[in-house]
Amino acid sequence: MEGPEAGGDSSPLDTSVPHIARVYDYWLGGKDNYAADRKAAEQVIATFPDVTVSVRAQRAFLGRAVHYLAAEAGIRQFLDIGTGLPSANNTHEVAQQVAPQTRIVYVDNDPVVLLHARALLTSTPEGGTIYVEADLRDTGKILDEAARILDFSQPVAIMLLGVLHCIPDEDDPADIVARLLAAVPPGSYLVIAHPASDVAVDQMATSMRNYNKQARDPVTARSHAQVSGFFAGLDLVEPGVVQLHRWRAGVGDLAADRELANYGAVGRKP
Ligand SMILES: C[S@@+](CC[C@H](N)C(=O)[O-])C[C@H]1O[C@@H](n2cnc3c(N)ncnc32)[C@H](O)[C@@H]1O
Repeated sequence: MEGPEAGGDSSPLDTSVPHIARVYDYWLGGKDNYAADRKAAEQVIATFPDVTVSVRAQRAFLGRAVHYLAAEAGIRQFLDIGTGLPSANNTHEVAQQVAPQTRIVYVDNDPVVLLHARALLTSTPEGGTIYVEADLRDTGKILDEAARILDFSQPVAIMLLGVLHCIPDEDDPADIVARLLAAVPPGSYLVIAHPASDVAVDQMATSMRNYNKQARDPVTARSHAQVSGFFAGLDLVEPGVVQLHRWRAGVGDLAADRELANYGAVGRKP
């Protein structure tokens, strides 16, 4: 177990503008947020009330995907980028419950996540977790730092949940995904959760436009086809790219006939 990295590439801490990590924390009912985050979060709720259902469903999807990878696919290494503030069922908690020797690298660029990173570093003695402060665009740094505890000759699950929508089209998110996938061997996996632009179309467009007026880093919802495009060259695990509450739902998950503007999928590198 190691402490958070000193220094790094986080954005400076400016609590006067909303930041997605803290807005998301507010929607989840957390306390690690500031007035500007709460205001922006409430404005989104006003135009898109399902957002609080959607973020909870995303955490549940994270838990099901990690459990699938650890228990059924035999994955023992995770690279979780855009980790978020510690919440219930963090990646290492779910994975190490199945296989205590699992190693997890957490990556985020929010200084507030860094402040709380100790809660992510409660690894089992047999396994390991580290926290790396980096921007998703800086794949070179992420892969270099991750190699401190991950063996890139063995399969790795790359987790990009609720973070690719923070990368605008002009920064080529598909190329970022491709660079990460190029660094991992066959048998590795990609997990994505991504807000949908083609479900609850008007509500999503309005709420995202309002959010982007206030936030420093704009967010972009994407269509089913665009999210599917991130999995180019991979074999999708059944049921493919779906509204994420429908991905291998179990007892206690949302009913399948509910519409949620949030896609989720898992793909395997052949
Ligand atoms: C909506 S939260 C998702 C948290 C978690 N992955 C989940 O699904 O529950 C998005 C996280 O991505 C981080 N993030 C946003 N843009 C990023 C970037 N360019 N590089 C690294 N992290 C980023 C934010 O700081 C935030 O913690």
